[in-house]
Amino acid sequence: MPRISHWLATMIAATPMVIAGCGGAGTDTASTGPVQDKGKEQKPGELTTPDRRIDLPKANSVVKGEVEGGESKKPTPIAYLYPDECNSKAIQDEPFEVTVPLGLSPIAAVIPAANPMTKGKVELGKQLYFDQRVSKDATISCASCHDPAKGWTDNAKFSTGIAGQVGGRSAPTVLNTVYGRTMFWDGRAASLEAQAQGPVQNKIEMGDQSYQEIIERLRQIPGYRDQFMKVFGTDVTLDGMAKAIACFERTALSGNSAFDKYYYGDPDNAETFKQLTESEKRGMVLFGLRLKDEDPFKVDSSLLAKAKCTACHAGSNFSDENFHNIGVGYDEKTGKFADIGRWEISPPGAKNFAEKGAFKTPTIRDITRTAPYMHDGSEKTLEQVVEYYNKGGNKNPSLDANMVPLNLTDTEKADIVAFMKSVTGETIIVKLPTLPPGPDGKSPNPQDALGAPPKTAQEIRDLHKVAVAR
Ligand code: HEC
Ligand code: HEC
Repeated sequence: MPRISHWLATMIAATPMVIAGCGGAGTDTASTGPVQDKGKEQKPGELTTPDRRIDLPKANSVVKGEVEGGESKKPTPIAYLYPDECNSKAIQDEPFEVTVPLGLSPIAAVIPAANPMTKGKVELGKQLYFDQRVSKDATISCASCHDPAKGWTDNAKFSTGIAGQVGGRSAPTVLNTVYGRTMFWDGRAASLEAQAQGPVQNKIEMGDQSYQEIIERLRQIPGYRDQFMKVFGTDVTLDGMAKAIACFERTALSGNSAFDKYYYGDPDNAETFKQLTESEKRGMVLFGLRLKDEDPFKVDSSLLAKAKCTACHAGSNFSDENFHNIGVGYDEKTGKFADIGRWEISPPGAKNFAEKGAFKTPTIRDITRTAPYMHDGSEKTLEQVVEYYNKGGNKNPSLDANMVPLNLTDTEKADIVAFMKSVTGETIIVKLPTLPPGPDGKSPNPQDALGAPPKTAQEIRDLHKVAVAR
């Protein structure tokens, strides 16, 4: 991992960005708001960013499967999904500068050209994220399960009522999902970019009445109509809703932890630097990272190869964005997984036994705030997680080769836990938005939806179609 000392640059400074009018970057010269620069030319259908390449056909087939699982078969009229035309003169918006906290890469590279960050969209997305009127009976919002005050999760083993939708999985954090290459534990949703470039529309054309209902409901809220006009130059649409929510989610960043201040901070600058404890440092090396060369504290070099967590929890967000079977949820008696994970998603003809019971490597950033752990919430504490790894996981035919008994001493286990705790980012208080009043003149209180259990599996499905259409 390269060591970079002065990361506290804004995204704008790091990479040029474009403010979009209608239809994304570079296509609309009439949009108001300052144009920063032309973004990198992105050819249609080419979904590469400097970091990664997305497999579009696979992504499409995944999305198709999800729609076929839906309940309603009637196609939603296009007018609810994406705008036919756009009034670029109505747009009043300006670029939003994201300050990337110490330790994270600039996020500009993972922002699709079709959905640049703007102030109006971030604000609109925040309202939609916290608005329970997005759900059918106006009881749950995204924040019910991804509550910023709970590490952007619900701190529950399973989100209640989730079974029909996801087969009993624990809500992952939204923090740093801007770096996510796929969404969900099994990666069944395409990346942000792939979603932004077409499959969403395809899937919806085949799709589901619920979009129409959601959008119709939001169109009855004058405050939303006005904001959509100002930021997109259109009426409320699913495309706009998903883009706005995505913009808000991209501001949910965790960095600038004690670890970051030690690892990336400048030791000569007390403001950016923090010394880790000896236990945290041993834990860091056990985890698979080297101490800073100039650190006079040395540890036995054999520790570096002992636990090798970075074999999977790699990079600045501690995830290789890949899928691994680490044995969670395997029942040795029946020889079966409670949830087969990635295996279910890969299309016939492309199935690989290593994907059986495999899940996406989650970040360990803000891990102290997101318990319980694993896709099934089966580990309550970090100590339990480390015990699980120490025994080499649950043996099964698809177990990842890096999962072997670790023979950690009690001190070493505690060191790894201490290190993971040191990767907890600074506390960011997200102020709840004031929601625009509905036709009855009343504004719901977003607080009412926090912790509210979801109602039906269908409702959760509907929410996620929006959530991943980004
Ligand atoms: C009922 C609880 C619940 C609600 C409401 C909910 N989510 Fe989720 N969310 C989950 C669960 C559970 C998963 C994991 C599902 C899986 O992997 O199969 C998830 C996954 C995600 C992911 C993928 C994260 C990753 O790292 O892969 C994102 C992003 C997300 N939700 C955003 C949203 C947004 C935006 C909304 C509102 C439109 C929303 N969620 C509403 C429970 C919920
Ligand atoms: C072979 C790849 C791999 C290795 C090696 C690995 N992990 Fe993981 N880790 C994963 C995957 C995949 C998951 C999610 C598994 C699941 O939910 O079924 C995970 C989950 C976790 C979680 C729970 C995160 C959450 O949000 O629920 C923690 C904490 C964790 N790992 C820490 C570690 C530590 C500490 C080590 C080293 C001792 C380690 N990991 C080694 C792949 C790996």
